[in-house]
Amino acid sequence: MGYTLITGATGGIGSEFCRQLVKTDDLLLTGRSQQRLEALKEELLKIRQSAKIEIFSADLTDFGEREALFALADQKQIKFSGLINVAGVDTQKEFIKYTHQKITFQVRVNVESTLAVTHGVLLRREKNLKILTVSSMSGTVPMPYFAIYSATKTALNSFFKSLRYEVKDAKITTLMPGAVPTREDIKRDIQLQGFTGKLSSKSIDFVVKKALRGLDKNRQRVIPGAFNKFIYFIERITPKSIQCRYVARKWSKKEKDNF
Ligand SMILES: NC(=O)c1ccc[n+]([C@@H]2O[C@H](COP(=O)([O-])OP(=O)(O)OC[C@H]3O[C@@H](n4cnc5c(N)ncnc54)[C@H](OP(=O)(O)O)[C@@H]3O)[C@@H](O)[C@H]2O)c1
Repeated sequence: MGYTLITGATGGIGSEFCRQLVKTDDLLLTGRSQQRLEALKEELLKIRQSAKIEIFSADLTDFGEREALFALADQKQIKFSGLINVAGVDTQKEFIKYTHQKITFQVRVNVESTLAVTHGVLLRREKNLKILTVSSMSGTVPMPYFAIYSATKTALNSFFKSLRYEVKDAKITTLMPGAVPTREDIKRDIQLQGFTGKLSSKSIDFVVKKALRGLDKNRQRVIPGAFNKFIYFIERITPKSIQCRYVARKWSKKEKDNF
């Protein structure tokens, strides 16, 4: 069996994928911090001592660093049986308040790097490849004041749905979580949203388990939690203009910028 490449491995959701997958898979992990990758590798080896784990720090918006990641794979003759696309940037503010650099950074992490890494893995694939991509419930409708994030996640939903028809012998699943309490600012947001925040929020462990189960079954999408599935259904039968007005009111005063 080949390796599973996990991007965003050092983040909240990414590290939980690592903990659950290391029990069965050999892993190539990437994130931007070498120090955090080393600490993660040490933690994972305590779960399965015999696991083969490679780490490579890279800013995935950088073409050269992506090339270097795959050069390492080639040098170590690594082929891939799995890819978990987790790296993502959830900056949220009114579009006009972005700098040019922040616009390109968010789009490049969320879309460019995810597609480029997926391409690199497809070129080095083993049989029975599985690809799971972390999108978001925010990608299922247009979201004023969270517009770049929402649009990039919509692009991923669309791209990976198409890819299922091109790469028919791979399992390709898109995960669309609601709120997941990873970083402190996200935990605070969930609390501030009150009852609906609580209903939408699912633990990291639950979300990752659901995602991996869905991937095994080759589900096109996984939406963790009954409330989030209900919201997804309501979104399908409600006019977009009403949804956009509601979202604009909800998000117009909210800003977050962690990257
Ligand atoms: N938490 C939620 O409520 C929620 C809900 C829906 C979807 N999601 C999605 O889930 C994914 C993970 O989110 P999280 O909550 O676990 O947040 P997180 O802890 O902030 O993780 C984000 C990850 O993306 C990586 N990353 C960011 N920019 C990068 C770059 N230029 N190059 C390489 N890696 C980069 C980060 O790497 P560093 O460690 O180097 O910073 C980090 O590992 C994201 O795609 C997010 O959009 C999250």
